[in-house]
Amino acid sequence: YTITVDPAAKGPKIDKTMYGVFFEDINRAADGGLYAELVQNRSFEYSTDDNRSYTPLTAWTVDGAAQVVNDSGRLDDRNRNYLSLAAGSSVTNAGYNTGIAVENGKTYDFSVWARAGSGTTLTVTLQDAGGSLATARRVAVRKGGWARYRATFTATRTSTTGRLGVGSSATAALDMVSLFPRDTYKHEPNGLRKDLAEKITALHPGFVRFPGGCLVNTGSMQDYSEASGWQRKRSYQWKDTVGPVETRATNANFWGYNQSYGLGYYEYFRFAEDIGAMPLPVVPALVTGCGQNKAVDDGALLQRHIQDTLDLIEFANGPATSKWGKVRAEMGHPKPFHLTHIEVGNEENLPKEFFARFTRFRAAVQAEYPYMTVISNSGPDDSGTTFDTAWQLNRDAKVDMVDEHYYNSPQWFLQNNDRYDSYGRGGPKVFLGEYASQGNAFKNGLAEAAYMTGLERNADVVELASYAPLFANEDYVQWRPDMVWFNNHASWGSANYQVQKLFMNNVGDRVVPSRATTTPGVSGPIAGAVGLSTWATSAAYDDVKVTAADGTTLLGDDFSGDASRWTHTGTGSWSVQDGAYVQSDTAAENTMVSAGDPAWHDYDLHVKATKKAGK
Ligand code: AHR
Repeated sequence: YTITVDPAAKGPKIDKTMYGVFFEDINRAADGGLYAELVQNRSFEYSTDDNRSYTPLTAWTVDGAAQVVNDSGRLDDRNRNYLSLAAGSSVTNAGYNTGIAVENGKTYDFSVWARAGSGTTLTVTLQDAGGSLATARRVAVRKGGWARYRATFTATRTSTTGRLGVGSSATAALDMVSLFPRDTYKHEPNGLRKDLAEKITALHPGFVRFPGGCLVNTGSMQDYSEASGWQRKRSYQWKDTVGPVETRATNANFWGYNQSYGLGYYEYFRFAEDIGAMPLPVVPALVTGCGQNKAVDDGALLQRHIQDTLDLIEFANGPATSKWGKVRAEMGHPKPFHLTHIEVGNEENLPKEFFARFTRFRAAVQAEYPYMTVISNSGPDDSGTTFDTAWQLNRDAKVDMVDEHYYNSPQWFLQNNDRYDSYGRGGPKVFLGEYASQGNAFKNGLAEAAYMTGLERNADVVELASYAPLFANEDYVQWRPDMVWFNNHASWGSANYQVQKLFMNNVGDRVVPSRATTTPGVSGPIAGAVGLSTWATSAAYDDVKVTAADGTTLLGDDFSGDASRWTHTGTGSWSVQDGAYVQSDTAAENTMVSAGDPAWHDYDLHVKATKKAGK
């Protein structure tokens, strides 16, 4: 190839915030992940509504007698269960993965809320099958109501299979049994796991989108917390996630487990600030996307969620004297968080219903906070009728920015590098809030890197982009591929992570237009021909032809190609439709060769297709 660069020509400006991260509590990314708490089910709130295998004693082993109680003696109205531990009994917590991981010489902070009669002593231990991991601690409980007690451990051995034990000399009520490494990210209390937070920091992301994803579509949306008696699977509401951790209600997580909300909105804002990234929260829009596809028709409830969104902006930006600014200040941050962008809804499949609600949110937000960018979305798919309808509605309403999501094969990313070349320049900007090629192999990273050059080339349209999902705990995976993997003691970045790091640490100021030319004789396997035609479906194109330089028809001819000429060497399923349309299992190799001649060839490929009107 010859690459011609014209340094005098000015391409689009690239914002420093263009590449960011999307944190969602999927694959146990929060509890047992980024949130540094080492005790699982610390407040005995696990429920079969969160996950059919759960009980309030999940992750706990009882030696003696203990029961979980939900009565008026509880610690807080939103933290309903507590443990009643009989005299001379003890409980042991197994943490996450293989157990509680501790490192020789490091400090760990234990705390518990307890209520007991006079003369009660708790004995707190840290051990594994090989014996003690730190000197046991004794904690004297004062007679009276609930109070918080603390103890400090220094690990005398390294272990990844530790257990935290709490025994009591007399009957005691326990709640919020907690163990944190002292060495959290930036040493913050209720902090983040250092190695995971540092992996994000090393990216230097321009923004942090949170908390979901489908996570914000938890529940039916009709189940607003107090009104539903703190039932599980209530919609995700930011107000449940702030304030002292012992007063935060836990909830079922969209991805099938319990979320403690220990990592809540305050912690998200703090983290974004710590790493110099723009916070970008997503609020539910009362349309349950992510496979549920129901629109909630309740004006009062809608108004309540809109008010919650206004309150969220006040929580982030309001003075410490305002109602919600005061909550932020009391949590330790009197200064504002400088929120400028907010997203309403995630992947709703009902564009008209979503849009009717989105415009109400937007009007209310911009009436009070005219500087806010309110981001809409284009539904769950990257093409099709829903997508087209959503985009049309977004264009008509002059929306600032539209969130698009797609997870496709590496081939798709290579073939669609020009996706944004044809996007209208006068309309909404694109926020590519979630994308990934399906796999964590080197070729996936490479395909994403190639695609990102197309994003940058179109930086005047694509303003923000984030790979997804960010994290996966290797023992609790709901979704793959993921950018960073971890267990209870180690973490490692994928090839995709390295690509994101490379791009995020080297964001240019401006695109310099360039042109690549080559002489006939495209180097590469014939698979390229198939790849080139994957998007050329009969729905959008007429007259698809893929020919070799000598004029031989390789694939497709008015969508009547001979499918039997092609075999698939990958592991996934595939089919040939319309002659030239190859649909394949995107996680598979997707390499196609001619059945009669399964060798690799170099071809000079010619693809001719006429786009149908409006496609
Ligand atoms: O990133 C994983 C999921 O993919 C997100 O929760 C959702 O928005 C998308 O479907």
